Amino acid sequence: MTICNFGHQAYREMNKTVPLLKPIKVGNFELNNRVIMAPLTRRRATDEHVPTPIMQTYYQQRVSAGLIIAEATNISQQAVGYMNSPGIYNQQQIDAWKPVTKAVHDKGGIIFLQLWHVGRVSHPLVQPGGQLPVSASAIDLDDIILTPEGHKKHVTPRALELEEIAGIVEDYRKATLNATEAGFDGVEIHGANGYLPDQFLHDGSNQRTDNYGGSIENRCRFVLEVTQACCEAIGSDKVGIRLSPSGIVKGMYDSNPVALYEFLIKNLNRFKMAYLHLMEPYAALEPPERYKHFMVPVTPYFRPFFEGPVITNVEFNYETGNQIIQRGHADMVAFGKLFISNPDLVERFKNKWPLADWDKSTFYHGGEKGYIDYPPYPKKTS
Ligand SMILES: Cc1cc2nc3c(=O)[nH]c(=O)nc-3n(C[C@H](O)[C@H](O)[C@H](O)COP(=O)(O)O)c2cc1C
Repeated sequence: MTICNFGHQAYREMNKTVPLLKPIKVGNFELNNRVIMAPLTRRRATDEHVPTPIMQTYYQQRVSAGLIIAEATNISQQAVGYMNSPGIYNQQQIDAWKPVTKAVHDKGGIIFLQLWHVGRVSHPLVQPGGQLPVSASAIDLDDIILTPEGHKKHVTPRALELEEIAGIVEDYRKATLNATEAGFDGVEIHGANGYLPDQFLHDGSNQRTDNYGGSIENRCRFVLEVTQACCEAIGSDKVGIRLSPSGIVKGMYDSNPVALYEFLIKNLNRFKMAYLHLMEPYAALEPPERYKHFMVPVTPYFRPFFEGPVITNVEFNYETGNQIIQRGHADMVAFGKLFISNPDLVERFKNKWPLADWDKSTFYHGGEKGYIDYPPYPKKTS
């Protein structure tokens, strides 16, 4: 396998000014800058998982991002775990996304949709017909989840039958086509943060004895099949993937995560995707003793294994974002919470204007409050 450090040389030649603010080509898209809006679940869809009009305003306000990665979006009814998260599996949802993508395109923006199947991070109270959530194996998640009847403990999921897996891959393919019909420029496969793809990847949550469990190659099979399906549906230049190689949220654990992600990332190269989006572990979750063999920091280590553009994320700011690009460890930086409270983040970076703080209490509810009412920085009129 040839390992090409995409961006290293080219970057040094190109970026003589502010790295974050230089344009970059991703797939066939010319991004105006490398300040990426991270996918952010905000739970502003209806109870039936249909996008609402305030989502048009929200995304349009953030259009100066080089690329908007819209929030995690359910690929099927079975994929649902979070109340009021949007879906992309029926016509009503597709039609309700259309004005959102139009609002972004009208202002010259580029928007991908993050495709989501939560697997075991669900509950019968949010599953169709009160069914058990599914996962790679019947292993519980020791956590609680919000349901229409309040917070409940997760239940033991049902291990997917071998014959069911192709159907889920097909759901990803259809969701990718639906996203295109809804006007999205591309999709990002949510392979991070403990959801279904992660549940297949890690031996802590995958104890299958068939072709989808056991060896690293087998545990990567589901993610690689999903990637292939999405790439074949709309072209690999319109598909990205998000991974969290040292993530431990939602009970994730692997006995050899470094070898697992080296294998996975090298094998993703065959698709020539738009980008790889790597998450650093959250500082608050710094691995204790049990996680000593996890790689920190993630991006500088795994970046050389990927032959295309790399986005990095988690707790970056203007200075550290510029630094990591300057050092050649990443090509773009995604910002999450800063984009919640600074709709004009790129303008603020450009002008060195102060940044506004976010209000955690309105992350996941509050309607317009804490959603579309963060003002842009007041420009001086001379
Ligand atoms: C309110 C909220 C919602 C989030 N929703 C998602 C999501 O839908 N998909 C995802 O991959 N990550 C999600 N994340 C993680 C963010 O994309 C990002 O990784 C995290 O906020 C760290 O980046 P930051 O330090 O720039 O905020 C969410 C984070 C927050 C705070």
